[in-house]
Parts: sequence; structure tokens; C-alpha cells
Amino acid sequence: MSSHAPGAPKHISIHELRRMKQAGERFVTVTAYDATAARLVAAAGVEVVLVGDSLGMVVQGHDSTLPVTLDHMAYHCAAVKRGLARGDGRAHLVCDLPFGSYQASPDEAVKAAVRLVAEGGAESVKLEGGAEFGEVIRRIVRAGIPVMGHLGLTPQSVHAMGGYLVQGKDADRAQKLLRDARALEAAGCYAVVLECIPAELARLVTAQLGIPTVGIGAGPHCDAQVLVLNDLLGLDEAFTPRFVKRFAELGQAVRGAVSAYAAEVRAGTFPAEDHSFHSSALRLVALATADQEPKDPPDAVGAPV
Ligand code: KIV
Repeated sequence: MSSHAPGAPKHISIHELRRMKQAGERFVTVTAYDATAARLVAAAGVEVVLVGDSLGMVVQGHDSTLPVTLDHMAYHCAAVKRGLARGDGRAHLVCDLPFGSYQASPDEAVKAAVRLVAEGGAESVKLEGGAEFGEVIRRIVRAGIPVMGHLGLTPQSVHAMGGYLVQGKDADRAQKLLRDARALEAAGCYAVVLECIPAELARLVTAQLGIPTVGIGAGPHCDAQVLVLNDLLGLDEAFTPRFVKRFAELGQAVRGAVSAYAAEVRAGTFPAEDHSFHSSALRLVALATADQEPKDPPDAVGAPV
């Protein structure tokens, strides 16, 4: 990312994220799935934008992330990349490897990761799982693609976990998670997401790793936090898990705005004169002389997005 204009903020690399951990500076991660959201979250100054496979639930309307394909991820990642390109180019872009794209073999995993980087413009990929993915991670890293790990509640294993449940609650499972976290670091991960585990365990893992931990439902002691954008914006009023804090009530705001629009259309008050175009050639009442003809305003209607 050396193409930035002089004076533009420094692009966040994986090395900068590690430096932030060492300096005790927390960083912020948030999901985005399209160009508009990417532009907005980048303008808010987040360090990392995640194209999460949570898009299967919040964008596609599935009840799990399992139906999300590599094509879907590449498509959304490319859209997010274009949105980020409209801002200052500071945020790091990481994209989830979806279910089925990396479990079968390291070769398939490398090919999937390469697609997300080459087609989607991702700078790193994220995958779910522990020590058993050591070889997969090593191979992707060897291909020049940084990997973010993901432990604890790993939604792609929802059936193995028996539901979306807090993980690592007893001593044995906590020990296993700690071993897995060390294995991910040893395999070359540059950071690891800790999802829905006890705060005490997240604190221990964070203290023992040299790489940053990114918490979601893992208490306040991680090096960074991540939230799903739709959740923090309150877009789904029925979704109220303990680990989510709503920083806005956009669900309510959207309903209010669309109701107001519908009311104005029904009442005939929208569109009004301000929202209308005119053509002098089509005027029904002619003016006295041609030189008194009003000029038509330009036809441009404004760029979308
Ligand atoms: O898919 C996703 O959005 C994620 C985050 C919740 C960490 O994996």
C-alpha cells in the first residue's frame, strides 16, 4: 500500500497491529459487506474491516453461515474494497474463508485464500479452528497471505458445538483453547478472534500470546474488539445477545423513514416541485418570446452511493 498520497494516514498493516498490541493500544474491527458500509466504517476510523461470513445471516437471511460460498465472499469483499478505496485507504481488509473452502486440504485452502486476495482485494484471510488447522495456516502464510485465526464459538461448527453456545467454560476446554491459541500463533497467525468465551480465559490467552486477540463476547481484556455492523447499528431489533451493545437504533430509524416516505407518497406530497425535472420543449403554455425561454437545468441527477 505504498500508493497513498503524501499526508494520507498510514495504512494499517499486520505489523502495525502487532505493534499496537505491544504498545497496549487497542484496535477496532467491524464487519462490512458492501461499498456503502465500507466507506462509512472507514470514515469512522476503524483499523480493521472484516468481510465476515456472518453475511450469510445478516445479508442473505440464512440461519447459519454454512451456505455461504467462496464466490459470495469474493463478491462482497470486492464491493467492500471499492468502498474503502473511496476513503483514506487506512483500514486493513480481512475476509473470511467460508465453510468448505479450507477444511478439505491445504491445497484447496491456499487456492481459496488466493481468490479472496486476487479477486476480492483482501489483505488477509480469517479461518475458524484450532491446532488441527496448523498445516493449512502454514501453507496459506507461506503463499504470502496473512491469516487471522478464530477460536471459541466458531459458527461454521454450529452442529458440532450443538448450537451457538459460550465455549471454554470448564478447565479442560479452557486448557484446550489456550493450547489451540498457542498453536495458531506458532503456525503463523497474525491475530486471533476469541468469540464467546469467559472473560477470564480471554484475559489469560491475551496475556500469553504475542499476537493480538480480537474479542467478541470475550470480555474487556482482549487487545481489540470486533462487532457485526448490523448488530452495533441495531438494525435487527429482535437480535439481542448479551455480547452486543447497540450504538444506534437504525432498525427503528429505517422503519420511521420508510413509513414517512410511504405516507407522503399516499398523500401526494412526495415527489414535490423540488424533486421534479422539467423540459421546456414539453411546456404546455408557451412564453411570448423565445429569448425569454428559461434554460433547462442540467440533466445530471447526482452520482449514486
Ligand atoms: O463472520 C463474522 O462476522 C465473524 C465475526 C463475528 C468475528 O467471524
